[in-house]
This record gives sequence, structure tokens and C-alpha cells, in this order.
Amino acid sequence: AFPLRALRAEIVHFLADPAERGADALQHFADGLLVLRDGRVAECGPAADLLATLPADTPVEDLRGRMILPGFVDTHVHYAQTDIIASHGEQLLAWLEKYTFPAERRFADPAHAAEVAGFFCDELLRNGTTTAMAFATVHPASVDALFEAAQARRMRLIAGKVLMDRNCPDFLRDTAESGERESRALIERWHGRERLLYAVTPRFAPTSTPAQMDTAGRLFAEYPGLYLQSHVAENRGEVAWVAELHPEARSYLDVYERHGQLGPRSVYAHCIWLDDIDRARMAATGSAMSFCPTSNLFLGSGLFDLERAHALGVRVGLGTDVGGGTSFSMLATLNEAYKVLQLNGQNLSAERAFYLATLGGARSLYLDERIGSFAPGREADFIVLDPAATPLLERRLARAETLSERLFALMMLGDDRCIAETHVLGERRWVRSGKLKGHIQAK
Ligand code: GUN
Ligand code: FE
Repeated sequence: AFPLRALRAEIVHFLADPAERGADALQHFADGLLVLRDGRVAECGPAADLLATLPADTPVEDLRGRMILPGFVDTHVHYAQTDIIASHGEQLLAWLEKYTFPAERRFADPAHAAEVAGFFCDELLRNGTTTAMAFATVHPASVDALFEAAQARRMRLIAGKVLMDRNCPDFLRDTAESGERESRALIERWHGRERLLYAVTPRFAPTSTPAQMDTAGRLFAEYPGLYLQSHVAENRGEVAWVAELHPEARSYLDVYERHGQLGPRSVYAHCIWLDDIDRARMAATGSAMSFCPTSNLFLGSGLFDLERAHALGVRVGLGTDVGGGTSFSMLATLNEAYKVLQLNGQNLSAERAFYLATLGGARSLYLDERIGSFAPGREADFIVLDPAATPLLERRLARAETLSERLFALMMLGDDRCIAETHVLGERRWVRSGKLKGHIQAK
């Protein structure tokens, strides 16, 4: 009963990890058609073939000259840190004290939370991100504000209330009991409502008592399909602190495992200072890593090892980690991912990079049956890239011969200016008007 409609443009998406399936992992239609029905992908393929099979009255939008990709998946971001992005001079622990905790304090005010949540969701869409896994703050109303903003835009969002009952300021401290009670109420209200999913959110091991770590693990096990998000092994001072707090544990990651916090749908940001035993435990339990390159460079945390994660079979997605990260743009994040891996003697292909930003992220969140590609039946979250967004990008692309070179130019030179349109469940949710809007205008 639902009518078909279609968009015609160059189309790129992934069916698998290019590191495993090589060229077969990617589908590229130089003149492609994305056919939609009721907010989902009906078909995707060469325009010449599909146009012949569609009913004659099917509306087809002509976007030739542009490139359609699945919406980006940001697997780790803090909405309450939007206003402290680009705060100067500190590494993780001092940065938390000096900038983060005071900023998160303001989310005790629901009006402030609602205003930031709206800005945050719009900023994700403006950058082509259609699914995010986000930290709120310790305040339950901060979670309501974020879910309400995402729901109003029909975005996929995984989020949760921060659990933090020690080693933090009084004004941000819950207790094992209140944290559990408030988390339960939020799970009942939001988990599985439309496109929204709940994540139990212990901030990181140093800020939860063993009692609270236990409640987090129990909640995670109790509700079907629930997520868990935290941070691990980001900064060397942090790792040393956890070793002092938990002499019984083999490693920082082991603290989480001892409290029942590993498993499918658990997502750990950073994962820099891990060893192969840790990586093997993450792989065996189905836990995922969120690689956050702009944050890891900005906070001077260290260099993520994608090769070892891959060798041991761990699921990996990409995160902006704003406000430790310095950009909401997944294109800018890919740029810095490339450079982090260069410093680690590793090579990130453009195909692998775009896979990580789309289907790989979806896979790390166990959502690859719903989002991340244009396989039939997937939710129609996609972006329209403008290859002429900036003079330099246009010029460089004119000299790029292969798709691989063109994707690489997009990730190294592109940012929010390249995102011409963002569509959520088949609806156009954001359109860039005027080529250089939001950029410094020429006089
Ligand atoms: N570790 C604990 N809390 C945080 C946070 O807010 N940001 C980052 N980057 N690391 C953390
Ligand atoms: Fe973070």
C-alpha cells in the first residue's frame, strides 16, 4: 500500500568488512538508484536496471553529481560536553575536573538539558550522523531531554544516565541504590520506544564503587537488548589509578568483566592501553571498541591499535567523543583515524574507513540488520555528499581516478560542508542551503 519513491545519484555502501572481503565488501553504482518504501530501503542498484522495473509513476529525484552513502554511526559521544568542545591544555583526569564536571553540573536544569539536546541532535544531522550512542549526565532528566530531542527527529539513539558514586564532585554523585532505581525508571520509559535504546552507563571504573559496578552488571543482564557503555584504558594515569583501586583485577578491562559488564551490546570507548588478553576477552564476549581518534590526539591519550583489534576479532566502531573529541564530523574523524594509524605504522584504506563509519559502526552496536547499509529492508538513513562542497575538494576530486582515491579525498578534505542532505527513515531532515553556509563567507 505504501508508494515507492527513488533517488538517483552515485551510491556507495558496504555489505561486509573490506578487510575481510576485499572488493566484494563494497557496492558502488556510478549511476545508481536508491528505492524507498515507507522509510525503508526497497532496492538499491544500477539506475539503468531499476528504472526499467519501477512502476511508471514512481517519483525519481535526480541527484546526479552527488554521492549517496548510509548515514554515519557515532558509537561514542557525550551530548552534555557540547559546550566544552575545544577546552585548552589538559589531559584526561585534569580535563574532567577542570572542564567536564562543571559543564555536566548545569544539566541539573532540565531547560538547559533540553536546549543542548536540541542543538546536539541538529549538529549530528548537519554532520551526516543518523545514529549515535551517547552519554547523558548523572541527572535522569538529562536523559529524558536527549531521548525527546532524538524522538522528535526520528533518529536512532542509544543513551543512558551516567552512574557515578565516588571520586567525583558531590554535585554529580549518585549512589548504588539511586543510580539503579533511576536507571530502571529510564529503561522502563525509553528502552525500545520507537528507535530509542537504553545503555547502562557507568562512567568508568574509578567513579563507581564495587557495589555500583555490580548493579550496572545486573541491570545489563536483566533487560533484553539493553546496552552498556563505558570508557577503558584511555590514559596512562587513569590506567595506573585503576590498578591501585582494583589490585584484585588482572587488568583495567578485567574490572569490568568481574562485574558482568562485558558481552554483546557493551561498548568501550578508547581501548588504547589494552593487551592481547584483554582484546581476546572483548572478542570472546562480543564486546565492542569505540575508536575515538580526535579525542585520543586532543587529550594526548595514545594511539589506538586497529590491527591488533582486527587480528583478535573484536568489533570496532568509530566515535567522535565530543567534548574530548574536537569535531562532530565523522569525515574529520576518519581524517584523524588515518593519521593515528600512520603513527602506529598501520594503513587505513578509504574503503575500510567508510565501512567503519557506517556498517562497521552498526555491527559494533549489533544494529547491522537495521541500519548501516542499503540492503533491502534496512531503515532508510542516508546522506547526500556534495563533491563540490569546497574549491579544494572539487579540484582534488577532479584529479582522482579511482573510487578509492575519491573516497580518500573526501575523508581527508571533507567535513560538515560536504553533507548536502541528511535523510532519516526516508525523510529529509537536514539540507545545506547555499554552498558555503556555515563557512566564512567571501565578501
Ligand atoms: N573517562 C571518564 N569520563 C570520560 C569523559 O567524559 N570523556 C573521556 N574522553 N574519557 C572519560
Ligand atoms: Fe567519552
